[in-house]
Amino acid sequence: MPSLTNHFQQCIAPDCRAEFDLDARLYVCSRCGGLLDIERREEIDSAALRDLWLQRRASFDPRDRSGVWRFREFLPFTDDTEIVSLGEGNTPLYDAPRSADYCHLPQLKLKHQGCNPTGSFKDTGMTAAVTQARKLGARLVVCASTGNTAASLAAYAARADLLCAIVVPSGHVSHAKLAQALDYGAKVFEVDGNFDTCMNLIRELAEDERVYLVNSINPFRIEGQKTVAFELAEQLEWQVPDHLVVPGGNLGNSSAFGKGFRELFAAGLIKRQPKITVVQAEGAAPFANFYSDSQQERFVNEEHPQTLASAIKIGAPVSWQKAWRAVQETGGSVITVTEQEIADAKAIIGRDGIGCEPASATTVAGIRKLKINENETVVAVLTGHLLKDTDYVIKYYDGSLVAPDGSPIKVTVSQDLHDLQDLQDILKIL
Ligand code: F0G
Repeated sequence: MPSLTNHFQQCIAPDCRAEFDLDARLYVCSRCGGLLDIERREEIDSAALRDLWLQRRASFDPRDRSGVWRFREFLPFTDDTEIVSLGEGNTPLYDAPRSADYCHLPQLKLKHQGCNPTGSFKDTGMTAAVTQARKLGARLVVCASTGNTAASLAAYAARADLLCAIVVPSGHVSHAKLAQALDYGAKVFEVDGNFDTCMNLIRELAEDERVYLVNSINPFRIEGQKTVAFELAEQLEWQVPDHLVVPGGNLGNSSAFGKGFRELFAAGLIKRQPKITVVQAEGAAPFANFYSDSQQERFVNEEHPQTLASAIKIGAPVSWQKAWRAVQETGGSVITVTEQEIADAKAIIGRDGIGCEPASATTVAGIRKLKINENETVVAVLTGHLLKDTDYVIKYYDGSLVAPDGSPIKVTVSQDLHDLQDLQDILKIL
């Protein structure tokens, strides 16, 4: 079993690599300001782990019921840690024939992280971060958010009996996400500005040591989220796909998949790593711009990010270096999709009976544009549930959805009975 002394925090900057105690309340390296990873000193004996993890699926122990804590041998906590869990993870990996057809890729699968307790992938990271918050004796947990982190944190804070404050860009968060945060008892501060403004504010607040910041800059969040790679590999009987495609906003998710697959590979649990591709909305694409800039000398933030996919309306992603590492190490790529492409892909995913929010649909939109051979296997990660943003859907189908640049979004994927005006006509077309 992992012991506390096995793990430590380490700066990812190649010329720094400073090490810190696991329980040092840090978000970035105190020497150089670089991002932090959680590392371990000893290799894991992984021989029997696949069987053990599978056996745990039949157990009723809350740790085993969680799709995160089931893989606890790879998490930086001891076995006696009191975990804060809502039974997160264990999300489905779907076949999706219409989406597959749309992408001309018979072997496309969708990993639906929207099936987590609060409806997004954030829960897999939040269970670890809030467990750490409680371990450190924090009084108040905080985050900046485009909505999902807020909803997730609020729920886990409630479970842990911690005070919770979240900062969101005023008028740019869906009502569903705000409602969740309020219902779970969080204090919501709406700020004039965008997500990046909120992030700056909250980082200042988190300098007080009674406050614990749980945005994905927090390496414990990444630890929880990396287990999705474990669960996915297990669902595929340890044959990883050729490509894994994720949306990119603050870039914590892509960083976490990179770390998860890297660790699985190092432990000999998988034979190769999937190519990780990150998809951004065209109007909020600083990472894609960095990728396509042949010099890559400087990461340039996007001052005024714009997209209807409000979850990924982010111009200054805090974790870009980690995501960059994941893309480079795996031979992946970073691409953009338009607002119309996102809307089309979302409607197609819906026609598979799978509901996701707009940010998640960037994946299928992106896969359609990627040059992938049809015998390659591809997994798209759907990050949030359809019910997170119902306004978008209603507007799409009544034809009033308008892109940030003013151009109307066309309904290219309609319902089968779309043109019927009268209920009485319905039987005539059968
Ligand atoms: N998809 C959804 C549904 C999200 O909520 C987010 C991020 C992303 C994708 C992007 O993931 O930031 O790890 O690259 N939402 C954050 C929030 C920023 O505050 O809820 P990322």
